[in-house]
Amino acid sequence: MSAPNKSYDPVEVEALKPENIERMRDEALAAFAAADSLEALQEAKTAHAGGASPLALANREIGALPPQAKAEAGKRVGQARGAVNKALAVRQAELEAERDARVLVEESVDVTLPYDRVPAGARHPLTTMMERVADVFVSMGYEIAEGPEVEAEWFNFDALNFGPDHPARQMQDTFFVEGPQGPGTTDGESGVVLRTHTSPVQARALLDREPPVYVVCPGRVYRTDELDATHTPVFHQIELLAVDEGLTMADLKGTLDHMVQALFGADMKTRLRPNFFPFTEPSAEMDMLCYVCKGESIGNPDRPCRTCSSEGWIELGGCGMVNPRVLTACGVDPEKYSGFAFGFGIERMLMFRHNVEDMRDMVEGDVRFTRPFGMEI
Ligand code: FA5
Repeated sequence: MSAPNKSYDPVEVEALKPENIERMRDEALAAFAAADSLEALQEAKTAHAGGASPLALANREIGALPPQAKAEAGKRVGQARGAVNKALAVRQAELEAERDARVLVEESVDVTLPYDRVPAGARHPLTTMMERVADVFVSMGYEIAEGPEVEAEWFNFDALNFGPDHPARQMQDTFFVEGPQGPGTTDGESGVVLRTHTSPVQARALLDREPPVYVVCPGRVYRTDELDATHTPVFHQIELLAVDEGLTMADLKGTLDHMVQALFGADMKTRLRPNFFPFTEPSAEMDMLCYVCKGESIGNPDRPCRTCSSEGWIELGGCGMVNPRVLTACGVDPEKYSGFAFGFGIERMLMFRHNVEDMRDMVEGDVRFTRPFGMEI
């Protein structure tokens, strides 16, 4: 058993001297104040308020002191530790508040921003335009009729009174799939073409139905035209055919006027100019009043109009009374029935209706072109 340590003065324990306790406290307070993050504060806490911190070690010395010194040292150490823990809690709260404020800014959500939607598709304006035109006639009791895009040459040309030497039958105008059966070929069989217009649906509709026939035929057609600002080799037409007893050109004119009024406004009208198509007789080119200037730009330099180039009228397409030869070729008695027909290009209508300057924009598939037309269904 070891002898008592005579040199140990329990009142003079170095670690418990007031100036040392004060220094330990001040060092702790300085370390907490210097901690600029919760991680740094955690390190300072371990160093100055943890179980192995100077104050904690000093605290352990108290037990060996005589009662009076124990009370004094205990009070000193207790006050120091109290101050340290209080400063720690204050700094902890400050740093947590700073962190919360920072997180609020960094992770803030702008609820006014559009959320991450899957982009929805929109219908192509050519489709909506074609359907809008067809709807005008459907509401008048017309029926939608369709025909194949790969068409028999007979329907595309012969049934429509195109003579064998008609220039449209040339390879440079028409895409032949089989054939050609045009000039110079006499084997008597019909070739196969990509239809060059929607007019062959006239012949198909007449062969499929008994008069009276009222049909509207929207669809895609093909010509060997180069793609440029006003032409495309693949485009869309809409065709109308009415065959009944007693139909006249007045009915054609009234129907055209109704169409442009339904599409462009009540004050619209059309005019007809003589033209030639093999399948209509008489035939005409149909114009509609410019829907922008309403004809006011004609001869009026003060009111120029870009849409119609100040001509007052916009060319729509072709029309006429169904040629009796077409009726006969389709088994309809031309003595009893008469009819009228018209057809026009949807691309051209979209161009002047929406001021599209280049037809190529319609076929290139860039959504920046279609998006402004909206989500029309
Ligand atoms: C015809 O195609 C006749 N079938 C129209 C018709 C129907 C007349 C019924 C009489 C009775 P045309 O070849 O003019 O006609 O063409 C009609 C329209 O198609 C033109 O007015 C034009 O708007 C459009 N079109 C013609 N070629 C092109 C092309 N390459 N690109 C875009 N549109 C075109």
